[in-house]
Amino acid sequence: MYPELEKELATFERRTPKSAASHKRNLQRIPLGVASNYRAYDPYPIFVKEAQGSHFRDLDGNDYIDYNLSFGALMAGHCHPAVMKAVEPRLKTGTMFGMPHDMEWQLAEEIAGRYPVEMVRFGSSGTEATMHACRLARAATGRDKILKFEGGYHGLHDSALVSVKPEHSDFGDKSAPNSVPAGLGVPKAVVANVPVATFNDLASVELRFQQNPGQIAAIILEPIMMNVGLCLPQPGFLEGLREIATKNGALLIFDEVKTGAKLAWGGAAEYFRVKPDMICLAKSIGGGFPLAAFGTHKSVMDLISKHKVFHGGTYNTNPVSMAAGLATFREVLTRDNYTHVDKLSKKLVEGYQKTIAKVGLQAYVASAGANGALMLFAKEIRNYRDWKAIDTEVWRHYWFAMVNRGVMPQPYWWDEQWTISVQHTEADIDKHLAAFADVAPGLAKAQQERMAEMAVG
Ligand SMILES: Cc1ncc(COP(=O)(O)O)c(C=O)c1O
Repeated sequence: MYPELEKELATFERRTPKSAASHKRNLQRIPLGVASNYRAYDPYPIFVKEAQGSHFRDLDGNDYIDYNLSFGALMAGHCHPAVMKAVEPRLKTGTMFGMPHDMEWQLAEEIAGRYPVEMVRFGSSGTEATMHACRLARAATGRDKILKFEGGYHGLHDSALVSVKPEHSDFGDKSAPNSVPAGLGVPKAVVANVPVATFNDLASVELRFQQNPGQIAAIILEPIMMNVGLCLPQPGFLEGLREIATKNGALLIFDEVKTGAKLAWGGAAEYFRVKPDMICLAKSIGGGFPLAAFGTHKSVMDLISKHKVFHGGTYNTNPVSMAAGLATFREVLTRDNYTHVDKLSKKLVEGYQKTIAKVGLQAYVASAGANGALMLFAKEIRNYRDWKAIDTEVWRHYWFAMVNRGVMPQPYWWDEQWTISVQHTEADIDKHLAAFADVAPGLAKAQQERMAEMAVG
């Protein structure tokens, strides 16, 4: 660790003693002291007291502009008035029924009106959505294998927990990456059924189909890979996948858990003009409540209708989440709000670019829709292996320095990205840019010194 980073960490610890104490207490009963492994980082995570609009406050009373927004699940921002107005009466009229109700078709209509799907089923998390989509694809094709991309994240079910963050030693050939379980407990038989290809490399996808003839049920991907900062599909990549899937009788699944709400009004299908066979939605469609959905052709959903594929869930379509979802689609994810967020995004990106150029930082900004990230690379990354080369110390310096200046620029971890909510303002962007302008010269200096050291060493 270098002195500037040490200094920022010392400041962080001085500002957040109550978070330190709460984390210590949590550790006694809760592994890592957090409810999801992604929330754990050194020296300890910030504990939140309350949030409103584009801000949150920690236990010590520090105020932050929030670009983490619950790992991108809050394009609505915190406690959006329209969502709160829809949800509050629901708290007095039954919070779950386990029986059908009248908001289900309304939300299914909203989804079918925006995304190229004919029928929809609901759940509570992105993991559920991708898990059921994969199972449906297997059932629809009579095949067992799901092709995914190295570095892609699709939640926590077994088939998704393959080659999420493999180490160099496990990589294998770039055109035919090894299928690597993401931790213990993933059955070998499942791993064997998840062939892995390289993002932005159509030849690696073709190769997998040649090696597994008639065995691959579906290709699953995030149209923009967001488990490596933000990695855009190169022109022709998504179109190429569409063709390969169709040619081989496999389904194309867009995991739009992040992009579905945050990229554009009609998600990635609208933005890239490529039609998948299945779409998985979660996170920002719930406006702050647990809500997920997967949608596809009627012919595929008929497998559920005919009781050939099982889908259920006690919490599915609970009226609180459904009311939040309806308000989110109708009053938050509006064309006007996309225009507002696009404008703020442009301002933020251009501001970062100006500062990067001014201080000579080797970095670029990747952005799409409400998302963006400072990418600490000299040139644009194309896949997971490119991303793996990041200098994590410089990234930590960036994150803690921004947080110490009252801006949480994105979730902790260098594989994440910022989200701009509909409640963010021009003033929020100005403050973000002012903090970055303050931090960037130190980052550039540290980066240059570390690169010089590496060149010598
Ligand atoms: C692209 C993608 N798919 C699936 C998931 C899983 O969603 P959840 O955490 O709601 O289970 C995530 C979560 O970060 C995600 O980013």
